[in-house]
Amino acid sequence: MSGERCWWRHGVVYQIYPRSYQDANGDGVGDLEGIRRRLDHLAWLGIDAVWLSPFQPSPMADFGYDVADYCGVDPLFGTLADYDRLLADAHARGIRVTIDWVPNHSSDRHPWFLESRASRTSPKRDWYVWRDGRDGGPPNDWISIFGGPAWEHDPATGQWYLHSFLREQPDLNWRNPELERAMHDVLRFWLDRGTDGFRIDVIHRIAKDPELRDNPPNPAGGQGYGGQLHVHDENHPDVHALLRRIRAVLDAYPDRMAVGEVYLFDPAEVAKYLGRGDELHLAFNFSFLRCPWDAAVFRREVERFEALCPPDGWPTWVLSNHDVPRHASRYDHPTLGDARARVAAMMLLTLRGTPYLYAGEEIGMRNVAVPPDRLQDPLARTLHPALSRDGERTPMRWDASEPGCGFTTAAEPWLPLGPQPPGTDVATQRADRGSLLWLYRDLIALRREHPALHRGAFRALDAPEGVFAYERTHEGGRAVVALNFGDAPVEVKLGAGRVAGGLSTRHGRALPDTADAIALAACEGMVLLLA
Ligand code: NOJ
Repeated sequence: MSGERCWWRHGVVYQIYPRSYQDANGDGVGDLEGIRRRLDHLAWLGIDAVWLSPFQPSPMADFGYDVADYCGVDPLFGTLADYDRLLADAHARGIRVTIDWVPNHSSDRHPWFLESRASRTSPKRDWYVWRDGRDGGPPNDWISIFGGPAWEHDPATGQWYLHSFLREQPDLNWRNPELERAMHDVLRFWLDRGTDGFRIDVIHRIAKDPELRDNPPNPAGGQGYGGQLHVHDENHPDVHALLRRIRAVLDAYPDRMAVGEVYLFDPAEVAKYLGRGDELHLAFNFSFLRCPWDAAVFRREVERFEALCPPDGWPTWVLSNHDVPRHASRYDHPTLGDARARVAAMMLLTLRGTPYLYAGEEIGMRNVAVPPDRLQDPLARTLHPALSRDGERTPMRWDASEPGCGFTTAAEPWLPLGPQPPGTDVATQRADRGSLLWLYRDLIALRREHPALHRGAFRALDAPEGVFAYERTHEGGRAVVALNFGDAPVEVKLGAGRVAGGLSTRHGRALPDTADAIALAACEGMVLLLA
């Protein structure tokens, strides 16, 4: 699948948080029918695939990442028939549909867990991780990522169950073969319907130390979760055998894929999840989420992953998602407007690797300061209001109409739509050829058209301080990209020859005739196709 155009390597994937994309039934919450009605936006933008965050039945303790039925649709989002219709209509437009699969934990209301907790001898007891306590407390020192001990005491059976996240999200026991089979069947359920692939939630946690040993303290100090070295509660080597068996399930179907959320900030560990082409097709590399606005830091992260990526592996790049503040906010600048968002988009869409866009970034959506009385995310309660992820989950803004911005007809959407800078909506930007939205579209089209950009080799080029420059080459085709992260103009000497086409992040700017010496304005990027 690497010779011809392979959709998960060469395409662009767009993440949709279903609660926040389009509300079709007027209840203030987005739904599957709403997404279906917005497929024309996605086709116009030119993306190849969507990833839908969870829409399965859920008590919504973690907004769908607490699944109570892996093979259904929560009534809030619609029905299975709505899903099938969405899938068919997406496919009719050449758009693949990938969905979230949450294998590390279920909801505490999942029938499997209800059965598991019913008694110590329940046939499903071992589908979750139950242990006796130690000295009247939890079985070991593990801490939940969402705050407090990772164990909850169950008075009825006198044992403790493990939860890496909320207590409403008990961890499944992947060392139990029946559970493993049941979860493989979940994959088949969606694959049989024609689903093109999965984004796998916290895949690096499904295997833990079988002896459940204590984590050592972090020598760098720190409190709570950060105060430990997570050597026993995640990334256990046994995860790779589990992944190979998951891969075998997918490989029984043509043209399907899995991308894993490997939330480890060590790229060497992330790259291991690609195996030898027999584990994940893609592993999220989240290094950009922690990069300051600094050309040298981005170059370092890209070169590091390029060096570690196995020969038949493939990188991914992501700047925003539903768990981190949006990059338009992270890289906001008092006077540059959306210039940085433009340079960031050019980088994301011209690197070697699959770009994952997060709905709303194409119009430069910022994080919204959600008032304390409207916070929804459980982290506001279990950790700290400042750690709430609501700000990056606010609804998509389709037009400038009040109060629903085309997202909803309800008086109040589930999260507020703003404030956002004027013009942060699809309709306004569609009408403006020079908008950020059009730049995303132009970049995606350029990338699709030129093999050097969607599949070519990557090499960083020497450039003045503040500039990240690189070339992409494929079978004689060659493109160079020069991104000025700085606030002042700069000349970049690439000695690269005659220019046959390309794009600047500044709309309407003439491209140079040659790429030998490129004059970049403050915070401008250029991709130049060479003759
Ligand atoms: C990662 C998801 O992206 C996040 O939103 C969720 O809260 C945790 N996994 C737990 O499922």
